[in-house]
Amino acid sequence: MQVAAEAAPTMLTKICGSDFSRDGSKLDGMQIGPYEISSPFVLAPMAGVTDAPFRRLCRQFGAGMTTSEMTTADTSLWQTAKSRHRLDLDLDAEPVAVQIAGSDAEQLATAARACVKRGAQIIDINMGCPAKKVCRKLAGSALLQNEKLVEQILRTVVEAVDVPVTLKMRTGWDPEHRNGVVIAKIAEDCGIQAIAVHGRTRACRYRGEAEFQTIAQIKKAVGIPVLANGDISTPEKSLEVLRLTNADGLMIGRAAQGRPWIFRELSNYLSHGDTGTPLEKNELRDIMIGHLGDMHRFYGERTGVRVARKHLIGYCKHLVDADEFRYQIVRVECAQEQLRLTQEYFNREGGGISIAA
Ligand SMILES: Cc1cc2nc3c(=O)[nH]c(=O)nc-3n(C[C@H](O)[C@H](O)[C@H](O)COP(=O)(O)O)c2cc1C
Repeated sequence: MQVAAEAAPTMLTKICGSDFSRDGSKLDGMQIGPYEISSPFVLAPMAGVTDAPFRRLCRQFGAGMTTSEMTTADTSLWQTAKSRHRLDLDLDAEPVAVQIAGSDAEQLATAARACVKRGAQIIDINMGCPAKKVCRKLAGSALLQNEKLVEQILRTVVEAVDVPVTLKMRTGWDPEHRNGVVIAKIAEDCGIQAIAVHGRTRACRYRGEAEFQTIAQIKKAVGIPVLANGDISTPEKSLEVLRLTNADGLMIGRAAQGRPWIFRELSNYLSHGDTGTPLEKNELRDIMIGHLGDMHRFYGERTGVRVARKHLIGYCKHLVDADEFRYQIVRVECAQEQLRLTQEYFNREGGGISIAA
Protein backbone atom coordinates (compact mmCIF):
# COMPACT_ATOMS: atom_id res chain seq x y z
CA MET A 1 0.00 0.00 0.00
CA GLN A 2 1.29 3.45 -0.82
CA VAL A 3 0.99 5.74 2.13
CA ALA A 4 0.24 9.46 2.10
CA ALA A 5 2.91 10.40 -0.35
CA GLU A 6 2.20 14.09 -0.78
CA ALA A 7 2.91 15.51 2.64
CA ALA A 8 6.12 13.72 3.48
CA PRO A 9 8.79 14.83 0.97
CA THR A 10 8.76 18.48 2.03
CA MET A 11 10.02 17.55 5.48
CA LEU A 12 12.64 15.08 4.53
CA THR A 13 15.85 17.00 4.21
CA LYS A 14 16.31 17.96 7.85
CA ILE A 15 14.02 15.83 9.86
CA CYS A 16 16.18 14.70 12.69
CA GLY A 17 19.50 15.32 14.37
CA SER A 18 21.18 13.97 11.28
CA ASP A 19 20.57 15.10 7.74
CA PHE A 20 19.15 12.65 5.26
CA SER A 21 18.83 13.46 1.61
CA ARG A 22 15.73 12.65 -0.36
CA ASP A 23 17.38 9.87 -2.30
CA GLY A 24 18.05 8.15 0.99
CA SER A 25 21.78 8.79 1.13
CA LYS A 26 22.93 10.06 4.45
CA LEU A 27 24.64 13.43 4.51
CA ASP A 28 25.65 13.47 8.13
CA GLY A 29 24.49 10.16 9.46
CA MET A 30 24.69 8.34 12.71
CA GLN A 31 28.12 7.23 13.78
CA ILE A 32 28.78 4.87 16.66
CA GLY A 33 32.48 4.87 17.39
CA PRO A 34 34.17 3.97 14.09
CA TYR A 35 30.95 2.56 12.63
CA GLU A 36 28.86 4.52 10.18
CA ILE A 37 25.30 3.25 10.56
CA SER A 38 23.87 2.78 7.09
CA SER A 39 20.25 3.59 7.93
CA PRO A 40 18.58 5.46 10.81
CA PHE A 41 16.23 2.48 11.29
CA VAL A 42 17.69 -0.25 13.46
CA LEU A 43 16.30 -3.45 14.92
CA ALA A 44 15.57 -3.54 18.67
CA PRO A 45 17.00 -6.49 20.57
CA MET A 46 14.19 -8.88 21.51
CA ALA A 47 14.93 -12.03 23.48
CA GLY A 48 13.40 -15.04 21.76
CA VAL A 49 12.88 -13.12 18.51
CA THR A 50 15.95 -11.33 17.19
CA ASP A 51 18.16 -14.36 16.78
CA ALA A 52 20.82 -14.59 14.06
CA PRO A 53 18.39 -15.75 11.32
CA PHE A 54 15.97 -12.90 12.02
CA ARG A 55 18.76 -10.34 12.28
CA ARG A 56 20.12 -11.47 8.90
CA LEU A 57 16.69 -11.03 7.36
CA CYS A 58 16.22 -7.54 8.79
CA ARG A 59 19.66 -6.56 7.48
CA GLN A 60 18.66 -7.75 4.03
CA PHE A 61 15.78 -5.30 4.20
CA GLY A 62 18.08 -2.48 5.19
CA ALA A 63 18.10 -2.36 9.00
CA GLY A 64 21.05 -0.09 9.81
CA MET A 65 22.08 -2.17 12.78
CA THR A 66 20.89 -5.22 14.65
CA THR A 67 21.72 -6.26 18.21
CA SER A 68 21.80 -9.76 19.63
CA GLU A 69 19.21 -10.86 22.16
CA MET A 70 20.08 -10.06 25.75
CA THR A 71 22.63 -12.51 27.18
CA THR A 72 23.43 -12.88 30.84
CA ALA A 73 26.75 -11.42 31.98
CA ASP A 74 27.29 -14.56 34.02
CA THR A 75 29.67 -16.37 31.69
CA SER A 76 29.36 -19.58 33.73
CA LEU A 77 25.90 -19.92 32.16
CA TRP A 78 27.08 -19.52 28.60
CA GLN A 79 27.26 -23.26 27.98
CA THR A 80 23.48 -23.63 27.88
CA ALA A 81 21.98 -24.13 24.43
CA LYS A 82 20.06 -20.87 24.84
CA SER A 83 23.15 -18.80 25.54
CA ARG A 84 25.15 -20.56 22.83
CA HIS A 85 22.55 -19.60 20.26
CA ARG A 86 22.34 -16.05 21.56
CA LEU A 87 26.09 -15.71 21.29
CA ASP A 88 26.26 -17.21 17.82
CA LEU A 89 27.08 -13.92 16.16
CA ASP A 90 26.56 -13.00 12.57
CA LEU A 91 30.06 -11.77 11.90
CA ASP A 92 29.34 -10.65 8.34
CA ALA A 93 27.04 -7.80 9.31
CA GLU A 94 29.01 -4.84 10.67
CA PRO A 95 28.79 -3.61 13.33
CA VAL A 96 28.27 -6.81 15.31
CA ALA A 97 26.42 -5.58 18.41
CA VAL A 98 25.93 -7.83 21.43
CA GLN A 99 23.72 -7.03 24.39
CA ILE A 100 24.61 -8.15 27.89
CA ALA A 101 22.61 -7.90 31.13
CA GLY A 102 23.74 -8.03 34.72
CA SER A 103 24.24 -5.94 37.81
CA ASP A 104 27.84 -6.59 38.79
CA ALA A 105 30.29 -4.22 37.11
CA GLU A 106 33.24 -6.63 37.06
CA GLN A 107 31.07 -9.48 35.83
CA LEU A 108 29.72 -7.28 33.04
CA ALA A 109 33.26 -6.21 32.13
CA THR A 110 34.40 -9.84 31.96
CA ALA A 111 31.39 -10.70 29.78
CA ALA A 112 32.06 -7.72 27.53
CA ARG A 113 35.68 -8.82 27.00
CA ALA A 114 34.53 -12.36 26.22
CA CYS A 115 32.00 -11.03 23.70
CA VAL A 116 34.68 -8.96 21.99
CA LYS A 117 36.87 -12.08 21.73
CA ARG A 118 33.97 -13.76 19.92
CA GLY A 119 33.76 -10.94 17.43
CA ALA A 120 31.50 -8.30 19.04
CA GLN A 121 32.20 -4.82 17.68
CA ILE A 122 29.74 -3.01 19.94
CA ILE A 123 28.75 -3.96 23.49
CA ASP A 124 25.26 -2.91 24.46
CA ILE A 125 24.24 -2.85 28.10
CA ASN A 126 20.67 -3.65 29.00
CA MET A 127 19.02 -1.22 31.42
CA GLY A 128 15.60 -1.58 29.90
CA CYS A 129 14.37 -5.10 30.56
CA PRO A 130 11.29 -5.02 32.80
CA ALA A 131 11.12 -8.80 33.43
CA LYS A 132 10.74 -9.73 37.09
CA LYS A 133 13.41 -12.44 37.00
CA VAL A 134 15.89 -9.86 35.64
CA CYS A 135 14.84 -6.98 37.91
CA ARG A 136 14.90 -9.20 41.02
CA LYS A 137 18.64 -9.53 40.44
CA LEU A 138 18.75 -5.74 40.17
CA ALA A 139 19.63 -5.96 36.49
CA GLY A 140 17.86 -4.58 33.41
CA SER A 141 15.61 -1.60 34.16
CA ALA A 142 16.00 -2.08 37.93
CA LEU A 143 19.45 -0.51 37.60
CA LEU A 144 17.83 2.83 36.80
CA GLN A 145 16.98 3.11 40.51
CA ASN A 146 20.63 3.23 41.45
CA GLU A 147 22.47 5.98 39.58
CA LYS A 148 25.76 5.32 41.38
CA LEU A 149 25.71 1.69 40.31
CA VAL A 150 24.82 2.74 36.76
CA GLU A 151 27.90 4.93 36.70
CA GLN A 152 30.12 2.22 38.15
CA ILE A 153 28.90 -0.36 35.62
CA LEU A 154 29.19 1.89 32.60
CA ARG A 155 32.63 3.21 33.51
CA THR A 156 33.96 -0.28 34.24
CA VAL A 157 32.67 -1.78 30.99
CA VAL A 158 33.85 1.14 28.87
CA GLU A 159 37.32 0.80 30.36
CA ALA A 160 37.33 -2.97 29.88
CA VAL A 161 36.97 -3.05 26.11
CA ASP A 162 38.35 -1.26 23.09
CA VAL A 163 35.06 -1.28 21.22
CA PRO A 164 32.18 1.20 21.58
CA VAL A 165 29.79 0.55 24.45
CA THR A 166 26.15 1.57 24.07
CA LEU A 167 23.22 1.66 26.46
CA LYS A 168 19.61 0.55 26.08
CA MET A 169 17.38 2.09 28.71
CA ARG A 170 13.89 3.11 29.68
CA THR A 171 12.91 6.62 30.80
CA GLY A 172 13.07 5.66 34.48
CA TRP A 173 11.84 3.18 37.04
CA ASP A 174 8.36 4.62 37.38
CA PRO A 175 6.57 7.89 36.52
CA GLU A 176 7.61 9.38 39.89
CA HIS A 177 11.26 8.59 39.17
CA ARG A 178 11.72 9.48 35.54
CA ASN A 179 15.48 10.00 35.62
CA GLY A 180 16.22 9.23 31.97
CA VAL A 181 17.99 12.56 31.42
CA VAL A 182 20.24 12.02 34.46
CA ILE A 183 21.09 8.47 33.37
CA ALA A 184 21.84 9.62 29.83
CA LYS A 185 24.21 12.32 31.08
CA ILE A 186 25.97 9.79 33.32
CA ALA A 187 26.26 7.47 30.32
CA GLU A 188 27.79 10.13 28.12
CA ASP A 189 30.20 11.12 30.88
CA CYS A 190 31.28 7.47 31.25
CA GLY A 191 32.11 7.19 27.54
CA ILE A 192 28.97 5.47 26.28
CA GLN A 193 28.77 6.10 22.52
CA ALA A 194 25.04 5.84 21.81
CA ILE A 195 21.83 5.45 23.78
CA ALA A 196 18.60 3.76 22.75
CA VAL A 197 15.61 4.84 24.80
CA HIS A 198 12.35 2.94 25.08
CA GLY A 199 9.97 5.75 25.94
CA ARG A 200 8.37 4.14 28.95
CA THR A 201 9.26 3.64 32.58
CA ARG A 202 9.69 0.13 33.90
CA ALA A 203 6.42 0.45 35.84
CA CYS A 204 4.63 1.22 32.57
CA ARG A 205 5.88 -2.05 31.04
CA TYR A 206 4.31 -1.87 27.56
CA ARG A 207 1.19 0.02 28.60
CA GLY A 208 0.11 3.50 27.58
CA GLU A 209 1.68 5.78 25.03
CA ALA A 210 5.45 5.93 24.69
CA GLU A 211 6.68 9.29 26.08
CA PHE A 212 8.54 10.82 23.21
CA GLN A 213 8.90 14.12 25.09
CA THR A 214 11.27 12.46 27.57
CA ILE A 215 13.30 11.09 24.66
CA ALA A 216 13.40 14.61 23.20
CA GLN A 217 14.75 15.90 26.55
CA ILE A 218 17.39 13.17 26.57
CA LYS A 219 18.41 14.01 23.00
CA LYS A 220 18.75 17.65 23.99
CA ALA A 221 20.83 16.82 27.06
CA VAL A 222 23.57 14.74 25.41
CA GLY A 223 25.83 14.98 22.39
CA ILE A 224 26.02 11.26 21.57
CA PRO A 225 23.55 9.61 19.16
CA VAL A 226 20.12 8.88 20.64
CA LEU A 227 17.80 6.27 19.18
CA ALA A 228 14.09 6.62 19.93
CA ASN A 229 12.14 3.44 20.59
CA GLY A 230 8.56 2.46 21.39
CA ASP A 231 5.49 1.64 19.30
CA ILE A 232 6.97 2.73 15.98
CA SER A 233 4.99 0.60 13.58
CA THR A 234 4.18 2.69 10.51
CA PRO A 235 6.10 5.03 8.20
CA GLU A 236 3.93 7.96 9.32
CA LYS A 237 4.70 7.22 12.95
CA SER A 238 8.41 6.99 12.19
CA LEU A 239 8.47 10.53 10.80
CA GLU A 240 6.34 11.78 13.67
CA VAL A 241 8.74 10.29 16.22
CA LEU A 242 11.78 11.71 14.44
CA ARG A 243 10.11 15.11 14.53
CA LEU A 244 8.99 14.85 18.14
CA THR A 245 12.29 13.61 19.51
CA ASN A 246 14.91 14.97 17.09
CA ALA A 247 16.53 11.55 17.56
CA ASP A 248 19.39 10.38 15.36
CA GLY A 249 17.67 7.12 14.57
CA LEU A 250 14.74 4.88 15.42
CA MET A 251 14.75 1.44 16.95
CA ILE A 252 12.00 -0.88 15.75
CA GLY A 253 10.98 -3.93 17.77
CA ARG A 254 7.62 -5.66 17.67
CA ALA A 255 6.57 -4.14 14.37
CA ALA A 256 9.42 -5.98 12.62
CA GLN A 257 8.31 -9.42 13.77
CA GLY A 258 6.43 -10.98 10.87
CA ARG A 259 7.29 -7.91 8.84
CA PRO A 260 11.06 -7.61 8.42
CA TRP A 261 10.51 -5.65 5.20
CA ILE A 262 9.36 -2.74 7.40
CA PHE A 263 12.95 -1.44 7.25
CA ARG A 264 12.72 -1.08 3.48
CA GLU A 265 9.34 0.64 3.81
CA LEU A 266 10.59 3.10 6.42
CA SER A 267 13.69 3.98 4.38
CA ASN A 268 11.63 4.46 1.23
CA TYR A 269 9.17 6.64 3.06
CA LEU A 270 11.87 8.79 4.58
CA SER A 271 13.62 9.14 1.23
CA HIS A 272 10.78 9.39 -1.25
CA GLY A 273 7.57 9.86 0.72
CA ASP A 274 6.10 6.47 -0.17
CA THR A 275 6.79 2.96 0.98
CA GLY A 276 7.92 1.73 -2.44
CA THR A 277 6.72 -1.20 -4.51
CA PRO A 278 4.38 -3.31 -2.39
CA LEU A 279 5.62 -6.74 -1.47
CA GLU A 280 4.52 -9.39 -3.97
CA LYS A 281 3.01 -12.70 -3.02
CA ASN A 282 6.01 -14.61 -4.38
CA GLU A 283 8.42 -12.35 -2.55
CA LEU A 284 6.69 -13.02 0.76
CA ARG A 285 6.69 -16.77 0.02
CA ASP A 286 10.43 -16.65 -0.59
CA ILE A 287 11.03 -14.61 2.58
CA MET A 288 9.07 -17.11 4.68
CA ILE A 289 10.61 -20.22 3.10
CA GLY A 290 14.11 -18.76 3.38
CA HIS A 291 13.56 -17.72 6.99
CA LEU A 292 12.18 -21.15 7.92
CA GLY A 293 15.17 -22.91 6.35
CA ASP A 294 17.57 -20.60 8.14
CA MET A 295 15.91 -21.27 11.51
CA HIS A 296 15.86 -25.03 10.96
CA ARG A 297 19.59 -24.99 10.14
CA PHE A 298 20.51 -22.61 12.95
CA TYR A 299 18.70 -24.40 15.79
CA GLY A 300 18.40 -27.91 14.41
CA GLU A 301 15.02 -29.36 13.51
CA ARG A 302 13.34 -29.76 16.89
CA THR A 303 14.06 -26.30 18.30
CA GLY A 304 14.02 -24.66 14.86
CA VAL A 305 10.44 -25.76 14.19
CA ARG A 306 9.33 -24.42 17.57
CA VAL A 307 11.10 -21.09 17.27
CA ALA A 308 9.69 -20.73 13.76
CA ARG A 309 6.12 -20.90 15.05
CA LYS A 310 6.15 -17.44 16.59
CA HIS A 311 7.58 -15.94 13.42
CA LEU A 312 4.96 -17.73 11.33
CA ILE A 313 2.23 -16.32 13.56
CA GLY A 314 3.71 -12.89 12.88
CA TYR A 315 3.70 -13.46 9.11
CA CYS A 316 0.12 -14.74 9.24
CA LYS A 317 -1.03 -11.26 10.27
CA HIS A 318 -0.20 -10.18 6.72
CA LEU A 319 -1.75 -13.15 4.95
CA VAL A 320 -5.23 -13.34 3.46
CA ASP A 321 -7.52 -16.14 4.56
CA ALA A 322 -4.81 -17.74 6.68
CA ASP A 323 -6.80 -19.11 9.66
CA GLU A 324 -6.47 -22.74 8.65
CA PHE A 325 -2.80 -22.35 7.64
CA ARG A 326 -2.08 -20.74 11.00
CA TYR A 327 -3.91 -23.49 12.87
CA GLN A 328 -1.90 -26.20 11.11
CA ILE A 329 1.48 -24.54 11.05
CA VAL A 330 1.77 -24.02 14.81
CA ARG A 331 1.10 -27.71 15.43
CA VAL A 332 3.61 -29.41 13.17
CA GLU A 333 6.79 -30.85 14.66
CA CYS A 334 8.68 -31.53 11.47
CA ALA A 335 10.71 -29.05 9.39
CA GLN A 336 9.71 -30.53 6.03
CA GLU A 337 6.04 -30.33 6.96
CA GLN A 338 6.41 -26.69 8.05
CA LEU A 339 7.98 -25.88 4.68
CA ARG A 340 5.42 -27.93 2.75
CA LEU A 341 2.42 -26.27 4.43
CA THR A 342 3.90 -22.82 3.76
CA GLN A 343 4.50 -23.62 0.11
CA GLU A 344 1.01 -25.10 -0.14
CA TYR A 345 -0.57 -21.95 1.29
CA PHE A 346 1.04 -19.85 -1.42
CA ASN A 347 0.15 -22.33 -4.17
CA ARG A 348 -3.50 -22.07 -3.21
CA GLU A 349 -5.83 -19.95 -5.29
CA GLY A 350 -6.30 -16.73 -3.34
CA GLY A 351 -3.52 -17.21 -0.78
CA GLY A 352 -1.45 -14.07 -0.48
CA ILE A 353 -0.80 -10.80 1.22
CA SER A 354 -3.08 -8.33 2.89
CA ILE A 355 -0.82 -5.34 2.83
CA ALA A 356 -2.74 -2.75 4.61
CA ALA A 357 -0.16 -4.21 6.91
C1 LIG B 1 9.53 -10.34 23.15
C2 LIG B 1 10.39 -9.17 23.53
C3 LIG B 1 11.69 -9.39 23.94
C4 LIG B 1 12.51 -8.31 24.28
N1 LIG B 1 13.79 -8.53 24.64
C5 LIG B 1 14.63 -7.49 24.85
C6 LIG B 1 16.02 -7.71 25.07
O1 LIG B 1 16.52 -8.84 25.03
N2 LIG B 1 16.79 -6.60 25.29
C7 LIG B 1 16.27 -5.34 25.31
O2 LIG B 1 17.01 -4.37 25.51
N3 LIG B 1 14.96 -5.11 25.09
C8 LIG B 1 14.15 -6.16 24.85
N4 LIG B 1 12.84 -5.92 24.54
C9 LIG B 1 12.36 -4.54 24.43
C10 LIG B 1 12.48 -4.05 22.97
O3 LIG B 1 13.83 -3.97 22.58
C11 LIG B 1 11.82 -2.67 22.78
O4 LIG B 1 12.46 -1.77 23.63
C12 LIG B 1 10.34 -2.68 23.10
O5 LIG B 1 9.70 -3.81 22.52
C13 LIG B 1 9.66 -1.40 22.60
O6 LIG B 1 9.84 -1.25 21.22
P1 LIG B 1 8.68 -1.62 20.15
O7 LIG B 1 7.45 -0.90 20.57
O8 LIG B 1 9.23 -1.17 18.84
O9 LIG B 1 8.49 -3.11 20.23
C14 LIG B 1 12.01 -6.99 24.23
C15 LIG B 1 10.69 -6.78 23.82
C16 LIG B 1 9.89 -7.85 23.46
C17 LIG B 1 8.48 -7.59 22.99
